[in-house]
Amino acid sequence: KEYTVAIVGATGAVGEQLCDLLPQAEIPVKDVKLLASARSAGKILPVGDKTYEVEELTEDSFEGVDIAIFSAGGALSEKFVPAAVKAGAVAIDNTSAFRMDPDTPLVVPEVNPEALKDHKGLIANPNCSTIQMVAALKPIHDAYGLKRVIASTYQAVSGAGAEAIEETLAQSKAIVEGKEVPEAEVLPCAGDDKHYQMAFNVLPQIDKFQDNHYTFEEMKMTNETKKIMGLKDLPVSTTCVRVPVLRAHSESVYIEIGENNVTIEAIQDILRQAPGIVVEDDIQNQVYPQAINAEGKKETFVGRIRKDLDVPNGFHLWIVSDNLWKGAALNSVQIAEEMIKQDLI
Ligand code: A2P
Repeated sequence: KEYTVAIVGATGAVGEQLCDLLPQAEIPVKDVKLLASARSAGKILPVGDKTYEVEELTEDSFEGVDIAIFSAGGALSEKFVPAAVKAGAVAIDNTSAFRMDPDTPLVVPEVNPEALKDHKGLIANPNCSTIQMVAALKPIHDAYGLKRVIASTYQAVSGAGAEAIEETLAQSKAIVEGKEVPEAEVLPCAGDDKHYQMAFNVLPQIDKFQDNHYTFEEMKMTNETKKIMGLKDLPVSTTCVRVPVLRAHSESVYIEIGENNVTIEAIQDILRQAPGIVVEDDIQNQVYPQAINAEGKKETFVGRIRKDLDVPNGFHLWIVSDNLWKGAALNSVQIAEEMIKQDLI
């Protein structure tokens, strides 16, 4: 069977990566439909060695589409995912719009592929920071049981979209050239009231604040981790921070496991055998994961594995992955590949 694939938000930061990854995927492609706003209609974009004309997204865009991957923001997913599903497509949504809906599977294929079989035409792709964390924690949970997770993130600006990348570069260029820094209009969060300089700065706000004093990004990591891992009572708390890195998120993750005498080597061995994980943990040679090395790589990199000095079942990990690939475009493509493998599309 061959599939017609629609990319909604094809001109955006994630959409562009989907155009790059689709030709490499194990998805037999019949046709590609690139959808974006009226502003981009008529633009010609490459997908592999072919080119396609961008069309304006409308309710009628999904006729004949088998797989529709959405990366154009939550509001547009809320509006257009139902149209895609109604037209008979399987929708894979990169936004937070449907992730916590109990009827929508939230899937990282190497962690919970079994959740796909109950789909009702829509699968949610988790938050970027959540995907790389659960990919690394699942094999440790399978071996020892997870008891608690506390994470602090160092997230790249591309997670906030193409405009956030532009804004950070323009500020950085002005500072380096000794010119006046252009006023921030996007970061830390396009939808919030105030905007702050990102270049040469660190901003402890990703998405909007909630009543409980956490940001929505922090709550996504907490709630989505529990849902994907099927551990509704697992204590998870996070601090999500934006740093002036263009691509790849880094995370400092503290875990407590169900056994006391586990060695660093045992954790390293488990991670070495896990799908999609690369252990980069050789302190003698100063080897550890770095954002700039993870850019354009499909794997999640784990290093700096240490035992807590006081808590006998506590471990610290440093987890890095490309937020636009495993954190978004690649995971969506892998969801489609896994669904084809399970004969679900
Ligand atoms: P466009 O480039 O035409 O504005 P990012 O996450 O990088 O900010 O990208 C957002 C994506 O969502 C872009 O592809 C953008 O297209 C698309 N988009 C934004 N608004 C609309 C809209 N009203 N209808 C369809 N696509 C939209």
